[in-house]
Amino acid sequence: MLALRASRALPRTLPTLALQHRALHASSSAAQRQIEHLTVVGAGLMGAGIAQVAAASGVKVTMTDVSDGALENGRNIITKSLTRIARKKSPDDPAAQRAFVDSVFANLSTTTSAPEAVSSTDLVVEAIVEHLQTKQELFRRLDDVAPKEAIFASNTSSLSITRIAETCSEARRTRFAGFHAFNPVPQMKLVEVISTEKTLPEVTTALLDLCKRMKKVPVQCADTPGFIVNRLLVPYLLEAIRMVERGEATPEDIDTAMKLGAGVPMGPLELSDFVGLDTLSHIASGWRAERVSTGEIDAKQVEEVGLLEKLVGEGKKGRKSGQGLFDYSDK
Ligand SMILES: NC(=O)c1ccc[n+]([C@@H]2O[C@H](COP(=O)([O-])OP(=O)(O)OC[C@H]3O[C@@H](n4cnc5c(N)ncnc54)[C@H](O)[C@@H]3O)[C@@H](O)[C@H]2O)c1
Repeated sequence: MLALRASRALPRTLPTLALQHRALHASSSAAQRQIEHLTVVGAGLMGAGIAQVAAASGVKVTMTDVSDGALENGRNIITKSLTRIARKKSPDDPAAQRAFVDSVFANLSTTTSAPEAVSSTDLVVEAIVEHLQTKQELFRRLDDVAPKEAIFASNTSSLSITRIAETCSEARRTRFAGFHAFNPVPQMKLVEVISTEKTLPEVTTALLDLCKRMKKVPVQCADTPGFIVNRLLVPYLLEAIRMVERGEATPEDIDTAMKLGAGVPMGPLELSDFVGLDTLSHIASGWRAERVSTGEIDAKQVEEVGLLEKLVGEGKKGRKSGQGLFDYSDK
């Protein structure tokens, strides 16, 4: 009753979600079979994390990237993370630690040939550079060679899933969704599952089911800028940096105020440095260029922040570069 009444007042895309929600709970006999084989495109931070967690959950995974060096990087990310987990699980048993790492790698293969990787896959999750045309070009190529029932999904943080899917066939667009995992994937519980206006309910159901098998907590969202988390987070972080720029409070006091007054575990400026000031600037400029004129985002919320651009221009990108709004050179 409540859901029905609420959905009437919601924007155009949400009744679709409400329907999918009902479909999910009404029946588990969806036409989509369980995802047994996953192809992860992009062996960077996110791709490696998604591949690791899926392989550890018993899914057969193929990870693909443009070069052997990039695949090696992905395997190293996974080895490091699994070794840490294994040491925690069996602190005094090196043989058990090795067995655990090997058992996950037994479910993981790698190749530089994306067409080969997707030739008999159930799901492709893309985690390559955050660049619309590069993602569109990748999916256009894969659409021709992947099985027609395979699901395509993007891990994009800030681009439109509908736009990424544009280069695919009409049929594939019904099997196209967002699968937005969070960094670091082995630790972060959340996955945002994003449906476009064309995504079939059975596709959403299959992705939600995979999330649960990966021991993640999925949430559903329409294809709007930043989905749930970044839509709320990005304007908030930008405004915190504007407060510093206007000299209204120090970065330390803003973070202390939000931690003790709003109960957040990390203040907005420390969080901006953690996300990466370059990433924050990139998302905001992308939204200014693409999502303001469409009416999806209010221009005021993503207005350029001089201090942010200055820091990024000086190479102060946050924690990863040793300096951002705070100094990490001794950490
Ligand atoms: N880093 C984060 O915190 C985070 C969080 C959530 C989502 N994301 C999103 O995940 C995606 C990947 O981010 P990341 O941080 O893992 O990036 P990354 O730079 O660590 O890795 C990207 C990988 O993609 C590969 N690649 C580039 N073009 C390719 C192509 N055409 N085909 C195959 N591989 C290609 C690169 O060689 C690299 O290994 C982006 O869309 C990003 O917005 C990032």
